[in-house]
Amino acid sequence: MTSLLKVMYARRILAACARQHSSLTTELIENMDKKATWDRFYAENNRTSSFKNFEWFFGFDSVRHIILPYLQTMSHNSELLRVLDMGCGTSALGPCIYKDSPFPVKVTCADISPVAVHLMQEHIRAKAIQPQNLSSQLEFIELDCTQLHSHYGCSSVDLIVDKGTIDALLRSKEGKDKTCLVLKQCMKVLRRSGSLLQFSDEDPDARLMWLETEAQEQGVMSANVGVQEVGDLRGILYYCYQVTPHPTVH
Ligand SMILES: C[S@@+](CC[C@H](N)C(=O)[O-])C[C@H]1O[C@@H](n2cnc3c(N)ncnc32)[C@H](O)[C@@H]1O
Repeated sequence: MTSLLKVMYARRILAACARQHSSLTTELIENMDKKATWDRFYAENNRTSSFKNFEWFFGFDSVRHIILPYLQTMSHNSELLRVLDMGCGTSALGPCIYKDSPFPVKVTCADISPVAVHLMQEHIRAKAIQPQNLSSQLEFIELDCTQLHSHYGCSSVDLIVDKGTIDALLRSKEGKDKTCLVLKQCMKVLRRSGSLLQFSDEDPDARLMWLETEAQEQGVMSANVGVQEVGDLRGILYYCYQVTPHPTVH
């Protein structure tokens, strides 16, 4: 990562931690791949009794115009589409997809932090959401996304959304190897018609090449990678990267 990007990212984290203790800020800057860091982050963010979703980058409204049409192209008959919000934290992204999708979806919000998962389970229990499609389902689970195969079978997921999770791993001192694992796991569990939508502030010059290289497995899998702008929010340009697995035919 260039020094300019590092400075910008550190600023983002500082803004996210505006009310946090400075030792947590330092921990976040270096250790965003660690469960303990995020447990502490979500616990400190929710000390008061009133729950508030925390959104990395932006909320669902900024990307609904990308996600809902994707679901439309994938939806066939009344079959449940399986959607995974990977590293959901306490974001409202997964619950909003569940609520607003006219097509039947099973949304799984997964995170390595049991604190975040518990907060979301409690929040939804206290404030039930009525989905547009009555067959839709929503669940929150504790899951390390480097081991998606422990929860999902091969080619079983239609859509994976990643808002800030791979970015967080990529920008951690010891997280780089995990990002490659996570990406390869996504490619394995996605259906052939499925996609990973990755929201990031990283420039396409760097990210496209990284995705194309890391998503492939010699002789087994390659990936089609595309990008579109999400837009400029508070002076930062965000992108949506689409990665679609493409099994190599022998
Ligand atoms: C930058 S935050 C983004 C949270 C959320 N997606 C959002 O938009 O607000 C990164 C999230 O990834 C989670 N995370 C980090 N490593 C993970 C892993 N190996 N498996 C699953 N989640 C992980 C963290 O607990 C944290 O909630």
